[in-house]
Amino acid sequence: MAIENKILKKVKSLKPIPSIIHKILAFADDPDSGLSDLVRVVEFDPAATANLLKTCNSAYMGLPVKIDSVQQAVTMLGTQKVVEMVMAQNLSSHLMRSQKGYRLAAGDLWKQSVASAMVARSLAERRDLLGLPAIYTAGLLKDIGKVVLHEYLETKWFSIEKFIAIKGNSFIDAEKEHLGIDHAALGGIIAKEWNFSDHMVYMISNHHLTDPSARNDPATATLYLSDMVAMIAGTCTGVDRLAYDVYEDIFEDFFLAKDELKALVLAYEGYLAGAKRLAEPN
Ligand SMILES: [Fe+2]
Repeated sequence: MAIENKILKKVKSLKPIPSIIHKILAFADDPDSGLSDLVRVVEFDPAATANLLKTCNSAYMGLPVKIDSVQQAVTMLGTQKVVEMVMAQNLSSHLMRSQKGYRLAAGDLWKQSVASAMVARSLAERRDLLGLPAIYTAGLLKDIGKVVLHEYLETKWFSIEKFIAIKGNSFIDAEKEHLGIDHAALGGIIAKEWNFSDHMVYMISNHHLTDPSARNDPATATLYLSDMVAMIAGTCTGVDRLAYDVYEDIFEDFFLAKDELKALVLAYEGYLAGAKRLAEPN
């Protein structure tokens, strides 16, 4: 069987994502839903509620009072924060494992995904973009294709390094050349398999802007920048660090002053430190 077919078959064997992810995105998309709907969605999921309250009461959060209910968590932290915590926790089992083919240790992909999702959300807020929970979720899931591809990359390292270093190709080109598919396109296939919206599939498939028209979609451009900020910071990123095409015009469009980019890299490092502490057992 051709390697690409093996990879596509593997997608079918991935465990489904928790249904609460879709329920929260539907809640966020519905102008008629309110805070009480979010509270109900989380409360109906005992595991999500337990995880949320555990995190709220962790030393890391440092809250002055004990949080006993989802309602209290939303009141104390705000809807957006609670949505992001629930999303990150419920996707953690898909992102926590080591991805040896990318030289990512256990936990690295999750931490990097959480921190760059925070950057994507803050960039999207700066641009007044709608659908922040979806952009945040796309930030978490943009590299989900690596979860499948990593095991096929390991044996091809010598050739991939040569392909990038000597021929000057990007990592996306290297994946396509050696495996028949890249992690962004595969991520889109996984998102489709998991019944995400067309726009979510598009954002994930194009987060490296391999399709030039994706540069015109502000949410996808935001995702691209959040990934690049993670690459520039360089912590918890894998062996593919910075081996991607850089579109300076998009940087210039978002960051009018150089200091803004520097500040965002520092913010990313802060988010990453937060994700590391969250990942540690209390
Ligand atoms: Fe990526």
